[in-house]
Amino acid sequence: MTTQVLAPDESSLSLAARLLADGQLVAFPTETVYGLGANAFDEKAVLSVFEAKGRPADNPLIVHIHSRSQLDAICDVPDLAYPLMDAFWPGPLTILFPKKPSVPSVVTAGLDTVAVRMPSHPVAAAMLRACDLPVAAPSANSSGRPSPTTAKYVLQDMNGKIPLILDGGACDVGVESTVLDICHGQPTVLRPGGITKEMLEGVLGCEVQLAGSILRPLRADEKALSPGMRYRHYAPKGTVTLVEGSEEDVLAAMRCLCEAGRADGKKTCVMCFTEHVDALRDCNPHDIGHRGSDSETAHRLFSTLRLLDDEDMDLIYSEVVPPEGVGLAVMNRLGRAAAFRRIDARALLDEVYGG
Ligand code: TXA
Ligand code: MG
Repeated sequence: MTTQVLAPDESSLSLAARLLADGQLVAFPTETVYGLGANAFDEKAVLSVFEAKGRPADNPLIVHIHSRSQLDAICDVPDLAYPLMDAFWPGPLTILFPKKPSVPSVVTAGLDTVAVRMPSHPVAAAMLRACDLPVAAPSANSSGRPSPTTAKYVLQDMNGKIPLILDGGACDVGVESTVLDICHGQPTVLRPGGITKEMLEGVLGCEVQLAGSILRPLRADEKALSPGMRYRHYAPKGTVTLVEGSEEDVLAAMRCLCEAGRADGKKTCVMCFTEHVDALRDCNPHDIGHRGSDSETAHRLFSTLRLLDDEDMDLIYSEVVPPEGVGLAVMNRLGRAAAFRRIDARALLDEVYGG
């Protein structure tokens, strides 16, 4: 199959709508990351999404809509959902609803809830309006690779597997939507994103919980509230390690680590804040945005991880951000990319230079 990459215009949008109605897959930009869409009512089409991604069948998909009038056909709507939809739709918030039988169970991996989101990206909205179908869409990467934030990275994973990629340029937010469970007692963030816990609490007027496994691996005895949390995700091919400590210690430790990596014959680099690019110029610095600007780091994260793959990097040492606000979403993705490997900069320096 040839994969066409087309700029969004009237003719490519109506082609996308025809392909979706015909049971085929279309990749499209959203404000978070690119999605790989199929008609959510078409079981066969949804199965081919899992196949194209190599995605485990027990990891459910998000259903994308352009209008609240589409909800009635797919789910019940608890009262609590209304203020959330008023405040955050269209936008990067996915809400779990009690599922109706019309949604094939392949979409929800057999769960009794369906995840729904209304994207704000104009191309996503136009495509959803053009087909007027609920569109089941995971991120448009091969399973286990960093989510694509440009059409180029979608093509890297999906070339020859799908007929059409709508190229809407780089995604704004850069990390996937916040996934919120309002179906099982206290509202719980299953996956952090651009809509933060504090923003949700502000609208709901009650405490919002964070799923336990957001900043650590699941324990062997622990059930994943969101099946996606179980998998090693967002990982580039090289080995990512997080370096933590005071600013001065982190810079010194990164220089040590890079030197050691190179001496070992490994392609080595650092992911660092804009302010540190100069100080780390001998360490092949990759800029993850200004210190304290977590939205900028979120925006750059996946494209940086993809670039490191393009460069065949072996060892990657990364700075960290405080796990608060959008920083929580950054650290959730970065932690998984690093398989939660972390180095305490002070301890490393003490070991190298004596305490
Ligand atoms: O921003 C996004 O959410 C992007 C764009 C394309 O919309 N989509 C995306 O989809 O990130 P995906 O499939 O990569 O991630 C969906 C996440 C997974 O962690 C999945 O386990 C969880 O949502 N999820 C989906 N349905 C669920 C459900 N019924 N219950 C619990 N978790 C669910
Ligand atoms: Mg994904």
